[in-house]
Amino acid sequence: MAIIKPEYILAIDQGTTSSRAKIFNKNGRRVTETETEITATYPHSGWVEQSPQDIWHSVQTVIASAMINSGVRPDEIKAIGIANQRETTIIWDKATGQPIYNAISWQSNQSVAIIEKLRSDGHADMIQAKTGLPLSTAFSGSKIRWILDQVPGAQARAEAGELLFGTVDTWLVWKLSGGKAFVTDHTNASRTMLFNINTLTWDPELLALFNIPKVMLPEIKTSSEVYTTTESYQFFGGEVPIAGLAGDQQAALIGQMGFETGFTKNTYSAGSFILLNTGDTPVVSSHDLVATVAYSMQGEVKYALEGAIFVAGSAIQWLHDGLKMIDNEPETRTAAEQSTNDDEVYFVPAFSGLSAPYWDPHARGAVFGVTRGTNRNDFIKATLQAIAYQTRDVIETMRQDTGFEIKSMHADGSASRNQYLMQFQADILDAEILRATDEETTALGVAFLAGLAVDYWESVEDIKNMTIAGRTFKPTMPTSRREQLYHGWQNAVAATQLFKP
Ligand code: G3P
Repeated sequence: MAIIKPEYILAIDQGTTSSRAKIFNKNGRRVTETETEITATYPHSGWVEQSPQDIWHSVQTVIASAMINSGVRPDEIKAIGIANQRETTIIWDKATGQPIYNAISWQSNQSVAIIEKLRSDGHADMIQAKTGLPLSTAFSGSKIRWILDQVPGAQARAEAGELLFGTVDTWLVWKLSGGKAFVTDHTNASRTMLFNINTLTWDPELLALFNIPKVMLPEIKTSSEVYTTTESYQFFGGEVPIAGLAGDQQAALIGQMGFETGFTKNTYSAGSFILLNTGDTPVVSSHDLVATVAYSMQGEVKYALEGAIFVAGSAIQWLHDGLKMIDNEPETRTAAEQSTNDDEVYFVPAFSGLSAPYWDPHARGAVFGVTRGTNRNDFIKATLQAIAYQTRDVIETMRQDTGFEIKSMHADGSASRNQYLMQFQADILDAEILRATDEETTALGVAFLAGLAVDYWESVEDIKNMTIAGRTFKPTMPTSRREQLYHGWQNAVAATQLFKP
């Protein structure tokens, strides 16, 4: 009797603070999971950098431990998918593989002068129409320009074809394949500010504007196809196809099975990323939300509207590390439930300015409504509520930009485990919150992309049959109360923006 060899998909989730590897079986169930943290450096105020070699080594580490822990052999891995922190910019020497500068994180603002110049020269509207992106240091274009300006001789070397640029997906594929493949996918390309989301190509006018030679840019591929194979010495002797690539937030949308137009998800991690599937056409926002490629696979390209909240889970982390108010995250739920005040305390966690839809880089955090009776529980509750209020701010903006009603939102990410937060979110949004069974849908999403490319799963229909739905939270708050509370939040944000130290 022939023995049927087990087959799996390996998903790598390379994020801002950690790298993870997960192995999935055909039912979309996780067989193993490994994680290692990665650090950042902050050379100047507002600058955030990481070591490209550390990123690479962290990925090698988690792959090795996932294989060892699970006992899965390289020849049992049918394909690899990679989801990654987006926009983070790496430039390296094509011949030696050595980066010429640190990876500049998406969070870093050292290229602010380049962005301000583009704004004052009147390029914002053209850039947004082509790329879907509001002018911001977050995206890769100004970071590439900054490195080419700072590193002596870099511009000339880039023009001579000696340097390569990649976001983290490109860097990892290049490393895993031993330099065989120099590629990115549509979702990652759409975060560079050099990619035209309408034509799906590097845009000559933008390349000229940023003075970036095309020869240093990777080839653009779909999110689901065989790009290359791993170099055998990198991977326990196996040559495994790399077949799925996506930015982590788009991967989470796919992991949530957000294939329908109107599907909305929020990943509650350190920040919070809300994506609304807008279908076949990009919706360029009137409120500076981001229009982006949601995914491209099986002959289709879908777009999403995205709103990012800078501070979500990191506010909870601050309660722990900064204020020493809690010992662990689950405590926040109990504290919020034990708070007996009437929700009159508002905390605006504008640690590094306010993101969508306010875009105020100068705002700083503030607390309102404090009385002599305010206690720890009330403060913790206000912190959780702030995450929900900011989400409503983004959803209201999406409602205006698209005309979609948005009666439900899918939730994932670590803070989605918090039941108080999920219920308050449903109440303040007047929408059902559908929480995924496994709060980490990012790796699953890119596993789907890789598996579809190698016929591990035949079609999206195969995937849709898998159950990932966890608990649903329904709104129960009376409308007048909801609107009164939200009005209070809007007043708190307005007051925060008035404050100048
Ligand atoms: O755009 C940045 C985003 O991809 C970062 O996500 O989860 O790695 O912080 P995360």
